Amino acid sequence: MSPLLLGDLARLEAFYERLTPAVAEHFVADGPTDSSRLADHLASATDGEAISYGLISSDGLVLGHAFVERLWDGPPTLGIGIEEHLIGRGLGAKLMQATLADCDALSLPVVTLTVVKTNLRARSFYQGFGFVSRGEADFRRPGDSLAMERRLGGRA
Ligand SMILES: CC(C)(COP(=O)(O)OP(=O)(O)OC[C@H]1O[C@@H](n2cnc3c(N)ncnc32)[C@H](O)[C@@H]1OP(=O)(O)O)[C@@H](O)C(=O)NCCC(=O)NCCS
Repeated sequence: MSPLLLGDLARLEAFYERLTPAVAEHFVADGPTDSSRLADHLASATDGEAISYGLISSDGLVLGHAFVERLWDGPPTLGIGIEEHLIGRGLGAKLMQATLADCDALSLPVVTLTVVKTNLRARSFYQGFGFVSRGEADFRRPGDSLAMERRLGGRA
């Protein structure tokens, strides 16, 4: 797990370019995924206005990304995704622990996210980290998702 800064732009772009449709379907619409948004996101992380963690391979590739945007002009919003072949091995949990530890260290009162209702793996993953549903949200279609939030000091 490694914090990502502006100098990581090329390898973070490569991660998003490699994502398979099964992962991108649930992950990319809401996140900082095109080149200019990724650059803005990493600049924010470098300035302490966003959190960005990468799951890094032994040869330096980014294999997963967790982020929180809008730390101070909120609500802070979290996203997380890892490469499809790595799903289910506990690596997402490690990325999440690092990200939420930073949120708690900054005393963010709440962290929010949106998850597609049919993404049962992610819903139970988030519940395990103390996120609770606060109602419906729109992702690709009206009402297709849940808005979830985790209050300061929730599970990590
Ligand atoms: C959602 C996603 C990031 C989860 O990552 P993952 O590595 O697949 O998750 P894992 O299965 O390893 O993690 C869950 C593990 O964390 C554990 N866990 C849950 N809460 C935990 C906590 N508070 N602390 C530690 N571990 C916890 C679970 O018990 C589970 O372990 P198990 O499989 O042994 O039961 C990943 O599946 C993914 O990228 N999916 C596609 C994109 C996506 O859907 N993103 C979310 C969009 S909203």
